[in-house]
Amino acid sequence: MKELERVARLVSGLSELEFKVLENVEKLADQGRVSTPDLISKSLRLSVDYVAKVLEKLNGHGLVWSPAGRGREYMLNYKGLDLLALHSASRRGILTHIGTKIGVGKEADVHLGLTGEGTPIAVRFYRIGRQSMVRHKRLRETSLEAANYLASSKAAAKREIEALRILYQRGVPVPAPIYRNRHMVVTSLIEGDELARLRKHPEPEVLLREILGSVRAAMNAGVIHCDLSPYNILLTEDGRHVIIDWPQWVKPTHPNADAYLRRDVANLVSFFKRKLGVRVDMDELLEFVLKDGGLGLASQV
Ligand SMILES: Nc1ncnc2c1ncn2[C@@H]1O[C@H](COP(=O)(O)OP(=O)(O)OP(=O)(O)O)[C@@H](O)[C@H]1O
Ligand SMILES: [Mg+2]
Repeated sequence: MKELERVARLVSGLSELEFKVLENVEKLADQGRVSTPDLISKSLRLSVDYVAKVLEKLNGHGLVWSPAGRGREYMLNYKGLDLLALHSASRRGILTHIGTKIGVGKEADVHLGLTGEGTPIAVRFYRIGRQSMVRHKRLRETSLEAANYLASSKAAAKREIEALRILYQRGVPVPAPIYRNRHMVVTSLIEGDELARLRKHPEPEVLLREILGSVRAAMNAGVIHCDLSPYNILLTEDGRHVIIDWPQWVKPTHPNADAYLRRDVANLVSFFKRKLGVRVDMDELLEFVLKDGGLGLASQV
């Protein structure tokens, strides 16, 4: 069984009291603090012995970890955070099953999921700092750093669902936002392939303009992607494009908005030039994107 599926089984494998303890470990991690049976027993009014046993059990399942050299001191890790997020989604009936990994990125894993009605959905877990968390050894820096990574992943998920809600409502082609909890973002599943793999298209210039039309619509809705690449655009079989991966977006009022938007457009144009042989004028395309923007940027092109 895959690791996340094993974690998902614990949604029904832990008692509500055990979840309370895990949530407390999370609360302390949010404050950059390490959990001990003492601290948690005081805050939950449970016996120290009981809390110590639960923490050992959570540790046994790999949901928390004990920073090197200190027994009975625990810190939340990504597995524990996954479980807390899955627990919340399952309690609300949003997610009843978590399945295979359908995407791996630098900062996130994307899994297939099923809703209560059996509809397939995409479930994205942010994993900022994942590699460093495994590597580090020293206690104080490590636990603080780990807490920061978990917090950054939660912030990224919040940012992403915020963008998706704005854009989806405005009709920009993005996955439909369904739910966000902690570092987990649930959206509609897009059946499609990355634009990066496309080598042939009957009308590549038309496709490029369509995508840039969406970039313009997003900007007019107040969102600039900032990491636009052929890897973050999915193409469906019926020829539609969907733009994914939005956690780093900025508003058009951001001091670097202009440079970010230019870079986004340049990335796309360069791909269409190199792989699909499109001949276009970069300045003309930038003007096309900035037109109607109402940002005063067009005049700078
Ligand atoms: N809603 C979705 N429906 C279907 N597949 C998806 C969806 N979201 C993401 N994927 C798949 O997962 C892959 C990784 O997703 P995404 O780009 O969002 O992650 P990432 O961690 O930000 O990647 P990177 O940082 O390397 O660009 C995508 O290339 C795509 O194949
Ligand atoms: Mg990506």
